Amino acid sequence: MAKRRPILAGLDIGTQKVAIVIAEPGEGGIEVLGVGTALSRGIRSGRVCDVDKTAQAIAVALSEAELMAGCQIHRVSVAVSGDHVRGTNSHGVVAVDNGEVSARAARRVIEAAQAVPLPADQKILHLICREYIVDGQGGIQYPVGMSGVRLEANLHIISGCESALGNVKKCCNKAGLSVTEMLSSSLVAGEAVLEPEEKELGVAVVDIGAGTVDIAVYHSGVVVHSCVIPVAGLAVTNDLAHVLETSVSEAEALKKHRGCAVASQVEKHATVEVDGVGGRAPRIISQKLVADIIEPRLEEIFEMVGDAIVRAGYGEMLTSGIVLTGGVAMTKGIADLASRVLQSSVRVGEPLGVTGLSEEVDDPTWSAAVGLVHGVREHDLADGWGVGVGARIMPQWLWRKWREFF
Ligand SMILES: Nc1ncnc2c1ncn2[C@@H]1O[C@H](COP(=O)(O)OP(=O)(O)OP(=O)(O)O)[C@@H](O)[C@H]1O
Ligand SMILES: [Mg+2]
Repeated sequence: MAKRRPILAGLDIGTQKVAIVIAEPGEGGIEVLGVGTALSRGIRSGRVCDVDKTAQAIAVALSEAELMAGCQIHRVSVAVSGDHVRGTNSHGVVAVDNGEVSARAARRVIEAAQAVPLPADQKILHLICREYIVDGQGGIQYPVGMSGVRLEANLHIISGCESALGNVKKCCNKAGLSVTEMLSSSLVAGEAVLEPEEKELGVAVVDIGAGTVDIAVYHSGVVVHSCVIPVAGLAVTNDLAHVLETSVSEAEALKKHRGCAVASQVEKHATVEVDGVGGRAPRIISQKLVADIIEPRLEEIFEMVGDAIVRAGYGEMLTSGIVLTGGVAMTKGIADLASRVLQSSVRVGEPLGVTGLSEEVDDPTWSAAVGLVHGVREHDLADGWGVGVGARIMPQWLWRKWREFF
């Protein structure tokens, strides 16, 4: 009898939309069985600000996805973002007994590197070993069995505020779901849209949503830096509403259907009608004016992205450039603008490695939800809840050695 494969569910609770993907691991990646979305009303800049409204949105998206997939879901992996999510790099060092690195030494050095003073309210979400260093030789992923007397480890730790994470869990529970793991939005977006060669050569994935920009930098195949900027597409919409004296919903539609990130790419004589606010008569404006408002705000966002990458020390090391994803990545001309500001090659990324109902998730707003069902496994030593080193997603070599020891 054929063995049933596990059904996976990923829940992305964004500032603008809640999205759920139900999928099964398959031959060519993951097979999407069902998807659901709902407008998000209780999230501000990635943080829950209304538990009931968020739980309602999750329930709506869930029932849509369950209906499409023809199955019921009780457990989900959740993507988390917001200004409370932090990426910290740390370093640990231990002496090696008997001149050969043992699994125990590898575990001890990870524990030593974990001992960074995180603020008291922060919980660890990911513990990623960027590299081991044996007697000064860096770039090692599997140190066990190597000769040496000194073992070092460089970690990237991603943590989130305990109460903010607790609120996410509460929303899921109210919608009838238990949370199996919480994963950083930027990492899961990277899992969905990046090719392995890009991660190897050096790349930054920049997920620009409505309320946050989630950045993850990869080098030599591993996440080496991550951060969240709490300004994104909603700021562009608000600028349009403010300057054009129109409603936020009209500004949002204008941005999506007539917007462009590069004003000089807009046809000079093109015009568009804009509804007035509070019963005022509609006006005809130049389409270039819309782009003139969008361009400086996106430029400012990309300058912040560039600063974050340079501050992390990877400004000159991204051979594969930048991959933009998230809803804002659908803005016309955005890759040209980002490329000019960031002085790098830029492409727009959509979820990769998807079969089944793949057309349902083939735009950049689905990256985080799809990345959740791909999972963040490689090099991650935490279990998404800050419990520490967990066997479930520990690299197989380390898990085998660890079991030999204990
Ligand atoms: N075609 C488009 N052109 C320009 N902007 C777009 C387009 N489609 C969506 N957007 C913008 O993308 C943003 C929503 O993206 P996304 O769905 O990735 O956000 P989110 O995940 O809900 O939010 P966050 O990740 O910030 O919490 C909104 O600001 C929306 O206006
Ligand atoms: Mg998002």
